[in-house]
Amino acid sequence: MAKLRWGLIGGGRGSQIGPAHRISAGLDGAFEFVAGALDHRADEGRAFGIELGLEEDRAYGSWQDMLTAEQSRKDRVELVTIATPNDTHFQIAKAFLEAGFHVLCEKPMTMTVEEGEEIVALAGKHKRICAVNYGYSGYALVRHMKAMVARGDLGKIRLVVAEFAHGHHADASDADNPRVRWRYDPAQAGISAQFADCGIHALHMASFVTGQEVTRLSADIVSTIESRQLEDDAMVNFRMDGGAVGRLWTSSVAIGRQHGLTLQVFGETGGLRWAQEQPNQLYWMPLNGRVQIIERGEANLSPEADSASRVTIGHAEGMPLAFANIYSDLATTIIAEKSGNPMPTTLYPTAADGLRSMAAVYAVAKSGKSDGIWVDARPPAFR
Ligand code: NAI
Repeated sequence: MAKLRWGLIGGGRGSQIGPAHRISAGLDGAFEFVAGALDHRADEGRAFGIELGLEEDRAYGSWQDMLTAEQSRKDRVELVTIATPNDTHFQIAKAFLEAGFHVLCEKPMTMTVEEGEEIVALAGKHKRICAVNYGYSGYALVRHMKAMVARGDLGKIRLVVAEFAHGHHADASDADNPRVRWRYDPAQAGISAQFADCGIHALHMASFVTGQEVTRLSADIVSTIESRQLEDDAMVNFRMDGGAVGRLWTSSVAIGRQHGLTLQVFGETGGLRWAQEQPNQLYWMPLNGRVQIIERGEANLSPEADSASRVTIGHAEGMPLAFANIYSDLATTIIAEKSGNPMPTTLYPTAADGLRSMAAVYAVAKSGKSDGIWVDARPPAFR
């Protein structure tokens, strides 16, 4: 089968997340990188695109040029990834969905709940995919956790504890560095900093693994570096619609922690613990039993884990391979749609997840400014 044609917006030279997308999209041979508007500087974006192998006429200087040109091509791109800064996601996703393209958008999908609702509605109206890159949900053992919870290995889920706490913005003497400062400036970052950047990954993981959605929350948010207007640390208590109690800690001032995404789930008959920095091991703690280490690639894992795993046991799989599983889900879905079949249900995070995250961001900000009062965390459309 011919490869699907893939385009990238943002992810230019030196960007943080661009290389992971390029590796992931190409990994299984399902997508071919054929078009891009990679940089906010037109010349630099075009030059980098050509360097990466794009034809000159498809190495665009802006996403608007890319949209106009791709729309009129018979061999237009079949999936567009948006990996630009947060405040551009909404307008780019909206424009491409309206023009009939499938989209994979970086998180956060939008800057407001209203924008999120519009993207969900547009994807539905135009029958296009709008996926959101909560890429950590692509890890094989995260999918195994989800499968274990769904098949009842843990019994009823009582407690979910999620963390995404790193220390990369802990240096107060570096707080005015422009690369750091914008993240805590409401004019550029919006209503939330650390929770909107990292906390929403952890919250999405809690929902993804338990199959439960967040309903209410109470937040304690703080700027530990006083010059910051937005939070660099947050502790969030939440409740889920299946009865689970949730705890979430996110921080950018936890010195010594590198990435810091971890997820623990505790049910009536056992607990699970997984950490992004050791993604090939999952700790399983059955009630009254011994702690067991489940290895990615071992025999008798769930089909969800097996299909998300590529290399043999004992060889580390990391973040780009987790992202590749999101691309693999998208390829399966797009191929089905191209063949005239109904789009299958796969595990990629959707625009609805992006909207739920944005509602949680606003709920955290509201609660955090009001001494931690409990607030509804659901988007109005899902109440
Ligand atoms: P970055 O600042 O390192 O790179 C952004 C890139 O976008 C640059 O190459 C820049 O030239 C380009 N760009 C900016 N405006 C543009 C425009 N209008 N048109 C075309 N290109 C444009 O940013 P980074 O860290 O790579 O983040 C990008 C997005 O990815 C953010 O939304 C961020 O939240 C998200 N992200 C997601 C992660 C995940 O795990 N899913 C991890 C890291 C970032």
